[in-house]
Amino acid sequence: MGEARAGEGTVDVVFDGHVIAANQGVSLLQAWIAAGLPLTENAGCMGQGVCGACRVLVRRPGERLAGTALACETKAEAGMQVSFVDHFPARRPHRYALESLTDSWSIAEQIDTVFPEAKHCRHCSGCDRACPKGIPVQRMVNLAAEGQVFAAAELFDACVMCNLCVAACPEHIDPAHLGQFTRRMHAALTLRPADLMQRLRQIEAGEQRIDPEAPGTYPPAHA
Ligand code: SF4
Ligand code: SF4
Ligand code: FES
Repeated sequence: MGEARAGEGTVDVVFDGHVIAANQGVSLLQAWIAAGLPLTENAGCMGQGVCGACRVLVRRPGERLAGTALACETKAEAGMQVSFVDHFPARRPHRYALESLTDSWSIAEQIDTVFPEAKHCRHCSGCDRACPKGIPVQRMVNLAAEGQVFAAAELFDACVMCNLCVAACPEHIDPAHLGQFTRRMHAALTLRPADLMQRLRQIEAGEQRIDPEAPGTYPPAHA
């Protein structure tokens, strides 16, 4: 890879030891793509901030420690050092059958069966610091361990499953997967919204009209 140097309107960013001249104002992901570098597993939604695939470690000039971020949501700054974090799975699979989650009285026991590590949280806040979405992950873990699954699921609503909290947890709790479990439990144990059910029935019956000319339709019908 060639070593770029910042010119007018660009800033130097160092990706894994290689210097890229990024246009000012672009995201780290845009800078990487504009440099013509290959993206394999570190981009999914291409900048929507919802897939969690573009996880990076970032260190700014003068900082001692690297922090975590999403490359598509972080602007390139002069002197930044950046490293993509590859995908990694949970340390062990968590097996459960959602259709068997019918008894809300035994939520705490069910969580303890699937995620026995959850009660071992040592309150180190590593997961909170790792989360690029600012989710109070530790609180979610502690609520789930107490069986307060609905409150835990609500906290976890903005999770994009980047798994950075999984890497950060010294107790191998796999918070991202615990959070996903609480959201699934929440859906399995509650009634679906009436308007959603009505709309789904309309779609099934072919009654929902799709208007390609509606404002905001993308791509525009006559582009
Ligand atoms: S909770 Fe974990 S997996 Fe979800 S966005 Fe935060 S760090 Fe990523
Ligand atoms: S990183 Fe693990 S042990 Fe530390 S606060 Fe989060 S869940 Fe608890
Ligand atoms: S590319 Fe999907 S969150 Fe960044």
